Amino acid sequence: MLITFEGIDGSGKTTQSRRLFEFLKERGVKVHLFREPGGTEAGDKIRELLMSFELDPKTELLLFEASRAELMKVVRPLLERGEVVILDRFTDSTLAYQGYGRGLDLDLIRRLNDLVTGGIKPEVTFLLDLEPSVALKRLKEKTRFDDPKLLERVRDGYREIAKAEPERVFLIDASRSEEEVFSDIVSFLEGKF
Ligand code: TMP
Repeated sequence: MLITFEGIDGSGKTTQSRRLFEFLKERGVKVHLFREPGGTEAGDKIRELLMSFELDPKTELLLFEASRAELMKVVRPLLERGEVVILDRFTDSTLAYQGYGRGLDLDLIRRLNDLVTGGIKPEVTFLLDLEPSVALKRLKEKTRFDDPKLLERVRDGYREIAKAEPERVFLIDASRSEEEVFSDIVSFLEGKF
């Protein structure tokens, strides 16, 4: 089972994905947690590249997809063994940031996503929804995507994705406390483990 966490920078998805990982591990579930970009040695190098340079949006897109292609080599066998994989960002990030945010063609991004994932899809996606102004206040470090206007487009893009696939994407109000958000996530997953 593949579970993904999505949301703009500062939405709390890294904290929540770690909490879910610990929660499931304590219950004896075979569970793995990776983040994108990264999660493999090559992927971590690609992450460094992405974080170190001002890159053309097309370069950015291809590097995120390259990191994902490497990560799939690790994730696919785990899913085939029936284990649980939690991803802190996945294909929706590329649609939201490079597509809705940077204005690159959404269909092209969908095709690239399909190419690198070979059709691997999340069973459930937790979208932590938050106003960019609130999210930016929470961020300790600057990121390459901390322009409020860009984050507004990214957030709207995420909401479009959630509207189009309500059976997969669970939209969560991330302006609430860490506890409240986590309790929503656990209630949603109740009965699945
Ligand atoms: P992180 O801060 O959640 O680790 O993500 C790193 C940054 O990369 C974050 O600002 C979002 C961005 N990103 C994209 O723009 N496209 C993608 O496909 C992914 C996975 C991340």
